[in-house]
Amino acid sequence: MNVIEKVSELRTWRRQPGDVFFVPTMGALHEGHATLVREARASTGGRVAVSIFVNPLQFGPKEDFSRYPRTLEADLALCESCGADMVFAPTADEVYFEDRSISIRETSLSRVLCGASRPGHFDGVCTVVAKLFNLVQPDVALFGKKDYQQLAIIRRLVRDLDFAVEIRGSETVRESDGLAMSSRNRYLTEEERSLAPGLRAALLSARAAWNAGETNGAALEALTRKEISLRCPLGAVDYVSAVDSHTLAPLEEIQDQGLLALAVFFGKTRLIDNIELHRDESKR
Ligand code: PAF
Repeated sequence: MNVIEKVSELRTWRRQPGDVFFVPTMGALHEGHATLVREARASTGGRVAVSIFVNPLQFGPKEDFSRYPRTLEADLALCESCGADMVFAPTADEVYFEDRSISIRETSLSRVLCGASRPGHFDGVCTVVAKLFNLVQPDVALFGKKDYQQLAIIRRLVRDLDFAVEIRGSETVRESDGLAMSSRNRYLTEEERSLAPGLRAALLSARAAWNAGETNGAALEALTRKEISLRCPLGAVDYVSAVDSHTLAPLEEIQDQGLLALAVFFGKTRLIDNIELHRDESKR
C-alpha cells in the first residue's frame, strides 16, 4: 500500500491507468470506514484510494478540531488490511494555500439539520471534497449514510459542478447494541456510552409508529424526542427533524418516503443518526 503525503506524488500515482474507487475520511477509522474500503475493494477491477485528512475548514471555532482523534498508524494498518492500494494523508499546508480565497457553498440542502446548527460546516466539507475529487480524480466515491445530509450535499455538488464521479451511499454500520459507529463515540463516558444506543431505539420506535399509520411529521418528531428523554436522560437534543429524503425539506406528512434525522449532545459530544422511512424499499 502506498502512503502519499504530497500532491505531486498523488498526481503521479493517479496517472496509472484504470478506475479509482475513493473513500474520503478524516481518520480515526472504525468498522464503518472499513466497510466502505472493503466495498470499494469488492467492486473494483481498479485501485482503491483512501484519504485521511482532518479538514480544519469544516470545524466551527468552538468545535473539536484540535481534540479530534488522530490515529494515523492504526488507520494505515486498517486500510491495508481492507485492501486499500493507496492512502493520501496530507498536512493542512499541502491542501490549503495560506491566502486561499475560494470556497464552495451549497445554499439549499445545507440550511437544515446539521447545517442549521453548524454554520459553515458544509462549506468546509464541499470545499475539501471538491479539492479531493480534483486531486484523486476518482471514478467512484463512497460515503456512509450516517452522514446522510453530507451524502445528499455531495451528490448535489457532483451534479451541479459536473464532477465525473459516481457517488455511492452505504448503510450505517452499527455496534451490536445499535449505536451508529462514529469516530466521536470514543469521547463518550462509560455512562453516556451505555445510554447512547437509546438514539437508535428512539428512531426505531418512530419508524414503528409510522408503519402503524402515524404519518404526521411533528408527531413523529415529538415521539422521537419523548423516547430520547426516557432512554437518554443525559442527552440534550440539538434537533429531531422529519424531512424529505431527497430534498431534505421539512415534511408535514411523511407519506411514501422521508427521513427522520437527529443530533443529540452527550456532554460536549454531538452524535447524529437517522432512519429512512420508505413504503417501497426499492425507491431508497
Ligand atoms: O465524513 C467525513 O469524514 C468528512 O466530512 C469528509 C467527507 C472526509 C470531508 O472532510
